[in-house]
Amino acid sequence: MNSKEQISHDDYQKTADWLKSQTKHRPKVAIICGSGLGVLADTLKCQDSFAYSDIPGFPHSTVQGHAGRLVFGELKGKTCVCMQGRFHMYEGHSLCKTTFPVRVFKLLGVETLIVTNAAGSLADGLRPGDIMIIKDHVNFPGLVGMNPLFGPNDDKFGPRFPAMSGCYDKGLRSSAMEIGKQLGVSKLMQEGVYAMVGGPNFESIAEARLLHRLGVDAVGMSTAPEVLVAIHCGLRVFGLSLITNKVLKSYEDTDSVNHEGVLEVSRLRSQTVQQLVTELVSRMETN
Ligand code: 6GU
Repeated sequence: MNSKEQISHDDYQKTADWLKSQTKHRPKVAIICGSGLGVLADTLKCQDSFAYSDIPGFPHSTVQGHAGRLVFGELKGKTCVCMQGRFHMYEGHSLCKTTFPVRVFKLLGVETLIVTNAAGSLADGLRPGDIMIIKDHVNFPGLVGMNPLFGPNDDKFGPRFPAMSGCYDKGLRSSAMEIGKQLGVSKLMQEGVYAMVGGPNFESIAEARLLHRLGVDAVGMSTAPEVLVAIHCGLRVFGLSLITNKVLKSYEDTDSVNHEGVLEVSRLRSQTVQQLVTELVSRMETN
């Protein structure tokens, strides 16, 4: 899976140049919308949108609940670009394809990346419908060598050995918690540790217990690769997980998790996530 496929600086540049030729928007903020959270993109003003399949060099999204569009526009006067649908490792994309858009965003002049996802909770205090502000992650595929930064380093983007301590910006995290209070949803919000697993299956009971013991609060199948690539090229990162279900940790549990249930909860709470992200963007000191 960690294919030898390399993408050159020129390839990212070609896609960025094509997008620049198609839209006048010059975003400073990029937002990757997780499962069921793509409605945020629909709220952008003065939209220019592109199906992934029409963008030279872009991978294609195959997951239900992920529309597969790149949407440029304004959110409270700030120019943004939104990915409505992301690319997952479990779809069979190489990790450098999965994270391809992040480097394109960098070349477009983006400075901040916001990532959202749907995740299952392991922490007892995180209930379905809660919003977890990501304070750190465990990148399980990365620990065993599945990493988008594998291969020759492209010094034009960043260093060979990027640090991942402090990768989720502290200022943005506290700003989000503050906004939560003002929106009256702080009871739904807390910070936590997100773990990425490869998927596409949900966890076995033994795997869930293992993750819980390791200090993981929420688990999902995305986000870490995009964040690695963003930090590598110097972007500021904010991430949140919408908790869509509890991960079953007991052999006595009889119900089981499914994708439709995940989408249902994320749609129910999509409005709140949308307000939170919109307000976070509006407070950023960008154009
Ligand atoms: Cl329970 N597991 C994983 N890996 N991803 C999820 C999830 C669970 N719920 C939503 N996304």
